[in-house]
Amino acid sequence: MRALVWHGKQDVRVDTVPDPTISEPTDAIIRITSTAICGSDLHLYSKLGPAMKEGDIIGHEPMGVVEAVGSEVHNIAPGDRVVVPFNIACGHCRQCQRDFQSQCETTQNVSFRKGASLFGFSRLYGAVPGGQAEYLRVPQAQYGPIKVPQGPPDTRYLFLSDVLPTAWQAVKYAEVPKGGSVGVFGLGPIGQMCVRIARHLGAERVIAVDQVPERLALAQRWGAETIDFSAVKDVTDEVFARTSGSYLDSVIDAVGMEAGGSLADSVLQAVKAQPDKLVALHNAMGCVGRGGTLSVIGVYVGQFPLFPLGDLFDKQITLRWGQANVRRWVDDLLPLLTDEDPLGTADLATHLLPLEKAPDAYAMFQKKEDGCIKVVLEPHPK
Ligand SMILES: NC(=O)c1ccc[n+]([C@@H]2O[C@H](COP(=O)([O-])OP(=O)(O)OC[C@H]3O[C@@H](n4cnc5c(N)ncnc54)[C@H](O)[C@@H]3O)[C@@H](O)[C@H]2O)c1
Ligand SMILES: [Zn+2]
Ligand SMILES: [Zn+2]
Repeated sequence: MRALVWHGKQDVRVDTVPDPTISEPTDAIIRITSTAICGSDLHLYSKLGPAMKEGDIIGHEPMGVVEAVGSEVHNIAPGDRVVVPFNIACGHCRQCQRDFQSQCETTQNVSFRKGASLFGFSRLYGAVPGGQAEYLRVPQAQYGPIKVPQGPPDTRYLFLSDVLPTAWQAVKYAEVPKGGSVGVFGLGPIGQMCVRIARHLGAERVIAVDQVPERLALAQRWGAETIDFSAVKDVTDEVFARTSGSYLDSVIDAVGMEAGGSLADSVLQAVKAQPDKLVALHNAMGCVGRGGTLSVIGVYVGQFPLFPLGDLFDKQITLRWGQANVRRWVDDLLPLLTDEDPLGTADLATHLLPLEKAPDAYAMFQKKEDGCIKVVLEPHPK
């Protein structure tokens, strides 16, 4: 089959690799019809080289049609249309039972002291071949895959694999009071959906921060006030002014460790006078009002010094974060994936491309060229 293979930093190629087969009775094989590129893939593309091995297949946002199932898989059958959650979870361990699928005890990676295995996400998370491929072996298929109706286009359901449950968790964890205010840092697909879900769940005021014009414009269309962080001297001062000094009830960091900053930030990072790439997290923390909540959904890996513990203590901030527990939020989300499309799943993907174009798509998505917000790859274009 054809699959997107990691060869080195900023070097991914579509190669011919062996077809996956069923190796455990709890496996399924899915013929992938759509598979998206995520901001998390950009970490593998450009930052997390040491955790990757040449030949790794990337991708964790796939959906398709069941081809075959192992003898212990009874919830899905060949021919079913399914979305595959990015975390691989068993559904029956203590952590899955408490809906912490991202911490599944059956698939967690004890040798690296890491949580549940993830598709296409380096050896730290199980070295499981990913879903930017023609076919995918799905472990723990007795629990993971989400059966969806036939008929509507793939993009109606595809984002159940990651973007929708991730944004839903970010907003839930942010604990925005009814009629309250929330900041959303980062307006990639995750931040865009955070804006929409926060409004849907009753946030009165959403202040969204990014610097990419089309991403700011899209968030505005969904009811957010926006701040272009490259056009203001200090984002926290700007939020302070706009909220008459009270800041926001809740703030979501949907940026993670790829954060860009001002020219001054780049210089400070280059001379190591500023901790690397934490500008979004620091700004997000700074904008939380007293007694408020910070919800970090952007990914951070490794140890970071200079955490502003004093401010978090003084302002009595609640901090919640982590990988999304995809399965936990599916029942809340499925009823919203209708023709009315209240969360606008139909306008998130800016680029539908054949899998063969994936290397160009990675470069375009990373550089945010051509208005790119979300790429969906089709491994079997008609
Ligand atoms: N926790 C989870 O389960 C989970 C799941 C999916 C994605 N993620 C993470 O969520 C984050 C966002 O994912 P995405 O697909 O939307 O990525 P993306 O790269 O498309 O979006 C990130 C956005 O942040 C903006 N940005 C950069 N620096 C900023 C700053 N200083 N202030 C404000 N905005 C800034 C960028 O311009 C970009 O629009 C990534 O870190 C990704 O790894 C986490
Ligand atoms: Zn993702
Ligand atoms: Zn489990």
